[in-house]
Amino acid sequence: MATFAELWESLLPIGRDDGTGGYFRQSWTEPELRCRAWFTDQAERRGMAVERDGNGNLFAWWAEGKGQAVLTGSHFDSVPGGGAYDGPLGIVSAFAAVDVLRAEGFRPGHPIGVAAFVEEEGARFGVSCLGSRLLAGEIDPDRAAGLTDAEGTTFAEAVSGDLGPEPPEDYRIGRDDDLLGRIGSFVELHVEQGRALDVPVGVAGAIWPHGRWRMDFAGRGDHAGSTRLEDRHDPMQPFAHAVIAAREAAERHGARATVGRVRALPGGTNVIASQVTAWLDARGPGDEVVRATVAEIRERVSLAAAFHGVDFGLSAESYTSLVDFDADLRKRIVAALGGAPVLPTAAGHDAGILAARLPTAMLFVRNPTGVSHAPEEHATEADCLAGVAALAAVLRDLAAP
Ligand code: HGY
Ligand code: MN
Ligand code: MN
Repeated sequence: MATFAELWESLLPIGRDDGTGGYFRQSWTEPELRCRAWFTDQAERRGMAVERDGNGNLFAWWAEGKGQAVLTGSHFDSVPGGGAYDGPLGIVSAFAAVDVLRAEGFRPGHPIGVAAFVEEEGARFGVSCLGSRLLAGEIDPDRAAGLTDAEGTTFAEAVSGDLGPEPPEDYRIGRDDDLLGRIGSFVELHVEQGRALDVPVGVAGAIWPHGRWRMDFAGRGDHAGSTRLEDRHDPMQPFAHAVIAAREAAERHGARATVGRVRALPGGTNVIASQVTAWLDARGPGDEVVRATVAEIRERVSLAAAFHGVDFGLSAESYTSLVDFDADLRKRIVAALGGAPVLPTAAGHDAGILAARLPTAMLFVRNPTGVSHAPEEHATEADCLAGVAALAAVLRDLAAP
């Protein structure tokens, strides 16, 4: 069997921009399809049956034992220019942990599964954890089907992208109670996205509430030179105000708010934009903090838009309330590890979504840079190996006969 390093190296180049070192793995694009092929190959090498639900999520099953399965895994897709570890580390570590258990002759009393959830970052269709939300019934399948990417392709059109030229007609997107019923617990290993972990492996306590809001600014396109300032309806003005208001409101309410994505149309240098669309990401230690932060941003930007004669709309695209991971499962995992720090995270995860349907937990692997969603995201090989050993210990305990 391949070592962790060999496994890691075999996936690493897929979707990486060798200039920036950033990753571009959007769901159902060529790099992600290659990741899916990698997943199937790794499963087949281990004699693990591969299952795909109607949403495009993949599952590899070590189908020994009986009763509900212990599921682990994560996601392949990345944010634009993302790091190497966010998502893939959980999937590579899962296969490596299976190898560790098999090498010691472990025979599970329950099936063990490795999952690859689709569209976790929501970088193509705008809703985070879309694959796990659909599986868990946490989003209306009709709404999901109609979500579009930047080119106008709908999720419904893209979802069969890995099924070849003649996709079967009978699969459907949405909640899958049969599949959920076969899973007893889900433990996701993930690179830590912050600077709170000073030992190789930690355990997640909670996920902060977090959401995404779309901001639409409709002004009037005009000439950049011949239009007097007093005659302008420039949507870039209230947009600029939104960026500052997000930061100031976050500081005031103890939250985190970011405007990291903007689209100005028509996008000419010598043109006053007619329309600006921007996206707000807001998170905080409690739902009320997030609500108050977004309310303040909405109020301040509405005033700025009115002043500039620009129409403004703000609409929620996705929201996840506070997730407190299953306390019994967390305690059991900490015990299986012989003790580990428990820490919250402000990053969303599939484990946070599935927590609504079954006991879930997370293991974090130290990230010495603390940077994530950027090429500097990192984990040392030693810490990755500690993560694999920890995951193997957890699977050995949870899947014990
Ligand atoms: O955005 C997040 O928190 C996660 O990385 N999807
Ligand atoms: Mn991420
Ligand atoms: Mn992730």
